[in-house]
Amino acid sequence: MENVLIFGGTGFIGSNLAEAFINSSYNVIVFDKEKNNYKDSQLIWEKIKFIQGDAKDFAEVEKIFETNNIDIVIHLIDTNIARTSHETFIKNLEMNLVFNLKLVDIIVKHNIKKFVYFSSGGSVYGNNGSVFNNEKDDVNPIIYSGWVKISIEKYIQTSHFISGLNYLIVRPSNPYGKYQNYMRKQGVITAIFNNIMSNKNVEIWGDGSIVRDYIYIDDLCDAIIKLIKKDKWNEIYNIGSGVGTSINGILDLIRNVTKEKINVVYLPSEKVDIPVNIFDISKIKSRTDWEIRTLLKEGLEKYWEWFKNK
Ligand SMILES: NC(=O)c1ccc[n+]([C@@H]2O[C@H](COP(=O)([O-])OP(=O)(O)OC[C@H]3O[C@@H](n4cnc5c(N)ncnc54)[C@H](O)[C@@H]3O)[C@@H](O)[C@H]2O)c1
Repeated sequence: MENVLIFGGTGFIGSNLAEAFINSSYNVIVFDKEKNNYKDSQLIWEKIKFIQGDAKDFAEVEKIFETNNIDIVIHLIDTNIARTSHETFIKNLEMNLVFNLKLVDIIVKHNIKKFVYFSSGGSVYGNNGSVFNNEKDDVNPIIYSGWVKISIEKYIQTSHFISGLNYLIVRPSNPYGKYQNYMRKQGVITAIFNNIMSNKNVEIWGDGSIVRDYIYIDDLCDAIIKLIKKDKWNEIYNIGSGVGTSINGILDLIRNVTKEKINVVYLPSEKVDIPVNIFDISKIKSRTDWEIRTLLKEGLEKYWEWFKNK
C-alpha cells in the first residue's frame, strides 16, 4: 500500500480526495492548519492520520518526511484569493510563491518521487484566444494569482529536469460538491445554494452569460487516482467536464433541482471575467480510462441533497 501525504487535506478538494484515496486502498496522512469538522465522514476519517500544523513551519514539514515513509505528496495549499489577488500581489509573491518553491525543495530533498500539484485552469489560461483550452495552448493570465500558479508549475518542471522529481500538474476547471465552503468564497454553485438557504439575493457579476466548465468533485478525485495508478507522470493535465454552461444556465438548473425561487441581482461585469472558459479534456481521456460519470444536473441534485442537510 502506498502512503499519500495531502497538504491542505481538510479543505474542499483535499477532504474529498483523502476519502477517495482511502476508498482506493491507499494509506493517507493529512496535514492541514484546520481540523476536519464533517461528522458524516467520521468513519473514513478514523482511517486517516491527521497532523495539524502550518506548512510554513518548514521544520515541522521536514519532521513529517523524516518520521513517515511517504510515497506520494499531493499539494493543495494556496493562500491566494483569485478575484482579489491584484490587491495583494506582492504579498502573494512573498508569501505564497516563495513558500511553494521552498516546499518543492523539501520534497526533492526528501527524495519523494511522486508529486501532484494543483494548479488552476481557471486562472492560468486567461485571455489566450482559445475557447476549448488545451494544455498546449498559451497561458495568458488576467489575474495575478494565475502568474503565481504558472511560476510554481515551471519550478516543478525544472525540479523534474534537475532532480528527477516526478510530477503531475493538474489544472482543474470549476469543481463543485460536498465540503465546498461558502465562507472561503468557493464557487458560484455554493454561493447560490447558500443564498437560497438564507433567503438572500443572488448577486451575479455581469449578465449571466459567461460560460464555465463545471466538474463534480467525485469525477475530479477519480481523475487524480487514475492518473496516479496509470503512472502518467511528468505532464500537465486539464481536468474538467469539457462542457460549457452559462451562469444563467446554472441558475435554471438550480431552480429545477431545488424547486426554489431565486432572486437574482445582476451587477456590472468585472474585468477578470473572460466570456468563455471550457477545457479540452482529450489528453487525460486518451491516457487513462477516465471519463465523466456525473453530469451537471445529477451532480447538482447530489450536492443540493448534501448541502440542505448541513
Ligand atoms: N476549488 C476550486 O474551485 C479550485 C479550482 C481549481 C484549482 N484549485 C486549486 O486546488 C487547490 C485546493 O483548493 P480547495 O478548493 O480545496 O481549497 P481550500 O481552501 O478548501 O483548501 C486548502 C486547505 O489548505 C489549508 N491551508 C492553507 N494554508 C495552510 C498552511 N499554511 N498550512 C497548512 N494548511 C494550510 C487550509 O486550511 C485548507 O484546508 C488550490 O491550490 C486551488 O488553487 C481549486
